[in-house]
Amino acid sequence: MSAAIETLLVLCGVSAAAAVLRARISDKPREPVEGQAGRDAVWVPTPPALVERMLDIARVTSADYVIDLGSGDGRNVIAAAGRGARALGVEYDAGLIAVSRRNAVREGVAHLAKFVQADFHQADTSGATVLMLFLQPENLRELSAKFMALKPGTRIVTNRFGIEGWEPDEISRIGGDSPSCCTALLYVVPDKAGAPRTA
Ligand SMILES: C[S@@+](CC[C@H](N)C(=O)[O-])C[C@H]1O[C@@H](n2cnc3c(N)ncnc32)[C@H](O)[C@@H]1O
Repeated sequence: MSAAIETLLVLCGVSAAAAVLRARISDKPREPVEGQAGRDAVWVPTPPALVERMLDIARVTSADYVIDLGSGDGRNVIAAAGRGARALGVEYDAGLIAVSRRNAVREGVAHLAKFVQADFHQADTSGATVLMLFLQPENLRELSAKFMALKPGTRIVTNRFGIEGWEPDEISRIGGDSPSCCTALLYVVPDKAGAPRTA
């Protein structure tokens, strides 16, 4: 083999390896940053004490199937699994999904805490016994048809923002750093399917 051809082959090999490396780097989900933009809502995590309060007022036990729509770093799902519940996080951001799965393994609940990368508008919530949500009022408004289709007795627990036109069954506050922090609201889906609770 001539020296010129040999050099060419080495260069081709180097550039192919560089292309693979570039692809791997760009495939790698970026590390999430608090306050980052999301598809329909930014990522702001629920404070840990409020996560526990939300689970308390929703009375989550090992009999429950908890779904968090827009699950962020997975903290609600992981905490629910810590109480023995099966739990699912639906999150659009690939980086947050990766962090959630990593955290679920670290906390020893990966067998109960599952995560799917998807748009929460498309999520199947019909099997949930508890929805655990921290979303903006307009997101909650968009999801109201899903809420009304839930089985009677299903609990919906929200952080800070309530469901328009529904009267909370319970409101619970804990102290926090900012005046808007921290309120949990509980709604129990009424017997009459499709009948929204009115204030
Ligand atoms: C306010 S954060 C709440 C995070 C988490 N539930 C918590 O309580 O800590 C809202 C989350 O919704 C996610 N999100 C926004 N639009 C979404 C969509 N259409 N489908 C799925 N997730 C979405 C964001 O990436 C963000 O993680």
